[in-house]
Amino acid sequence: MPRIMLGSAVLLSVLIGYCIAHEDHGEVQSCESNSFSRIQANFRPGAVTLDGHPDDWSEVDGFEFSLLPALDPDEENEYKGGKMTVKALHDGHDVFFLLQVDGEYAYSKGENSKCPSVALMFPVGESATYHNMGGCKESPGTCSDKTCHGHEVDIMHFSIGTAIPGRLYGGNPLDNGNGSDRFGHLVDLYAWNPHCRFLDGLSPSGNDTSAENNWKGAWWHDSFNVHSGFLEGDSPFGTSGQKGTYYFEFSRPIRTMDRLQQDVQFTIGQSNKIAVAFWYPVDGKPWSGFQHYSINCDWIPLDIFSPPSPSGGSWNAALAFTLLLSVTSLCVSVFVGYWSTRTNKAVAFTPIDHL
Ligand SMILES: *[C@@H]1O[C@H](CO)[C@@H](O)[C@H](O)[C@H]1NC(C)=O
Ligand SMILES: *[C@@H]1O[C@H](CO)[C@@H](O)[C@H](O)[C@H]1NC(C)=O
Repeated sequence: MPRIMLGSAVLLSVLIGYCIAHEDHGEVQSCESNSFSRIQANFRPGAVTLDGHPDDWSEVDGFEFSLLPALDPDEENEYKGGKMTVKALHDGHDVFFLLQVDGEYAYSKGENSKCPSVALMFPVGESATYHNMGGCKESPGTCSDKTCHGHEVDIMHFSIGTAIPGRLYGGNPLDNGNGSDRFGHLVDLYAWNPHCRFLDGLSPSGNDTSAENNWKGAWWHDSFNVHSGFLEGDSPFGTSGQKGTYYFEFSRPIRTMDRLQQDVQFTIGQSNKIAVAFWYPVDGKPWSGFQHYSINCDWIPLDIFSPPSPSGGSWNAALAFTLLLSVTSLCVSVFVGYWSTRTNKAVAFTPIDHL
């Protein structure tokens, strides 16, 4: 119970934060979107293990982005720690993401806003904009799946204050029926705008327990010198202020069983869109929900590539098989023709339009 209340309190403060930010900044934001960048996910089955460690991603090309404040994307206020590199791949069933960003080690057990945090966002509805998380104009009293239809965005948010590095968080059997994660706060949300944002399955007009948290993920910081088996008691796991890189690794099925328009559905061979957010306790100060960096001020295309077409050898095999099939069917038709002239003399020919 206390955890759930804490969760609600955090959510509430995040929402309040968004309201304040919203009033301060108004609707108009300058955006010089980097229209050349995209993130590409190749088919590489069995290449990575979801453990927060980046070693198995070394052969995968990364895409590098500046981190500018999402609500005021001014280069002066760029994240000082460095750029974020995003890598993606798929195995035909799941899509995997690795986010890596340099940052001195900051961790405060149980206090999410004093730890780094990351979120991924995807459009679900056809009118879902990057700005204002879907961009529905309704307010919390009036937003619903009817009034905001078409503005749905899907969000994965990982706050690591209760997550042990290297261990897996996200969807778990105890939280089945909604998008929450009581252990690591790796949650599956949807939103119509910053004020109308809910865990999958929860909504102002009623809850639906068919929802699930379909995400899984882990985190790591390379200043740690133990490479396996941290326990909660080892927190804060490393020495504060150590230079190094944070790694956040995630996976999600390409398709989910969502029936509520709360999950993005990926398609192999097609392009989707993504946004990535990063929070960091700059100078040890806790962050508020609206105080996050973003890799772009608009959606970034996310290409889920089909496997490369089969090589020459198997193509020849396919051709030989096709040839064999056509020779066989030729023989069969010759035999059937012969057999029917020999045995069916008595059967009268019936023109088709008499039937
Ligand atoms: C999510 O579902 C679990 C399991 O049914 C339940 O215990 C938990 O209270 C739910 N969380 C919310 C926020 O409704
Ligand atoms: C939906 O679930 C939330 C969190 O568990 C709860 O606070 C709310 O009262 C529920 N709404 C309805 C309409 O049952």
